[in-house]
Amino acid sequence: MTVDLLLGLQWGDEGKGKIVDVLTSKYDIIARFQGGPNAGHTLEFDGIKHVLRTIPSGIFHKNSVNIIGNGVVMDPVVFQKEIEGLEKFNIDIQSRLLISRKAHLILPTHRLLDAASEASKGKAKIGSTLKGIGPTYMDKTGRNGLRVGDIELDNFEELYRHLADKHQAMIDFYNVDLQYDLAELEAEFFAAVKELKKLTFIDSEEYLNKAMKEGKTILAEGAQGSLLDIDFGTYPFVTSSNTTAAGACTGLGIAPNRVKDVFGIFKAYTTRVGSGPFPTELFDEDGATMARVGNEFGSVTGRARRCGWLDLVALKYAVQVNGVTALYMMKGDVLSGFDTLKVCTAYKYKGQEINHLPYNIEPENVEPIFVEKKGWAADLTGMTTYEQLPAELKEYIEFIEKELEVPIKVVSVGPDRTQTIMK
Ligand code: GDP
Ligand code: IMO
Ligand code: MG
Repeated sequence: MTVDLLLGLQWGDEGKGKIVDVLTSKYDIIARFQGGPNAGHTLEFDGIKHVLRTIPSGIFHKNSVNIIGNGVVMDPVVFQKEIEGLEKFNIDIQSRLLISRKAHLILPTHRLLDAASEASKGKAKIGSTLKGIGPTYMDKTGRNGLRVGDIELDNFEELYRHLADKHQAMIDFYNVDLQYDLAELEAEFFAAVKELKKLTFIDSEEYLNKAMKEGKTILAEGAQGSLLDIDFGTYPFVTSSNTTAAGACTGLGIAPNRVKDVFGIFKAYTTRVGSGPFPTELFDEDGATMARVGNEFGSVTGRARRCGWLDLVALKYAVQVNGVTALYMMKGDVLSGFDTLKVCTAYKYKGQEINHLPYNIEPENVEPIFVEKKGWAADLTGMTTYEQLPAELKEYIEFIEKELEVPIKVVSVGPDRTQTIMK
């Protein structure tokens, strides 16, 4: 069998967790392939709201196996809290959650390095979630990292000390005011590593390829979004992994010719949390309305998300880089009540109209060109079929499909599992 991918097409928080949960019943295996606890994937069902960080969003389905792939970076401390949060759901974690030995470990000093790096940047900071993501991937590519498989080694503590001491010197080099008690952080880390050791570690590329041979179906769950990709995102205001389709191949050990469908998920408008350019950002009442109605606060950091109109130039770019075969539109319900909606279809760039994403999209280089669409007033949250949706929303959907040349297969009208309309 083949693998399908589900990826965020914007700057993250598109609603990936909700959709993976909805799709899980169709798959045997759900696998995360990159990112780490910088992700916050929200699921809502049966009146419960749950935010997952490193654990794949298929974990609540009794028949699914969930895999943390080699491309993921995991923090044993955050992970332990996540596991504790799942206790009341009676999930057989040992058999339903499998962890790649090749996934890299986030050390307490990686988190401190993240904080020191951001503090040293001042106003130019990335707006990182401060989970140690960048420093951990730096150690991975620098060939200094520690991996999950290393905790099975007799000399793990020695390897840890060696790396942590090096980090300590780097933190000192930053010369910023950082308050911390390393001994306390390390005690917490080693206690969490002890717990992590009780779980099931696998050679995930072997496991997944064998599963494919046996006819099992796999859904790869992306974290962050395409515009935060280390190569294709708004560098340097990005995360430190490949969030796009290719990342699923390297992050799971799956060959490109095994990938079948690529589901691209986007909000009916745009949000971004952290620093960096955002051409369609709103600073007015409309943006405030989106933030309020859409409850646009980070699932991890609680930070207010910046809001703006839908940007089809950026979306087209993401569709192209990922090879998206079907689109999922989220949070359409949040736009109910706007008389007019704006959609960016081109940029004015150095005096010329362009419709591709250029190298520089800072406000001084790019001015969005909008078309206006008629809004709708109806509350969508109780609607269950495509036919019920207001004519103006259907027009909005058809316009996007035409511009992006990919069909919208799902329209989400609320945070709950059930508020999902298949078209
Ligand atoms: P993820 O990181 O892509 O999984 O997305 P987040 O969980 O960080 O953010 C999406 C937020 O929107 C969560 O609070 C979801 O519960 C919520 N959500 C998802 N889909 C919808 C929708 O269609 N309508 C509304 N109003 N909220 C939604
Ligand atoms: P999910 O999976 C939204 C953003 C941060 C910051 C930049 C770098 O929930 O969609 P990092 O911690 O990776 O060094 O931060 O990336 N960012 C996210 N924004 N959703 C996420 O994940 C994000 N993960 C990282 O805000 O701007
Ligand atoms: Mg999120």
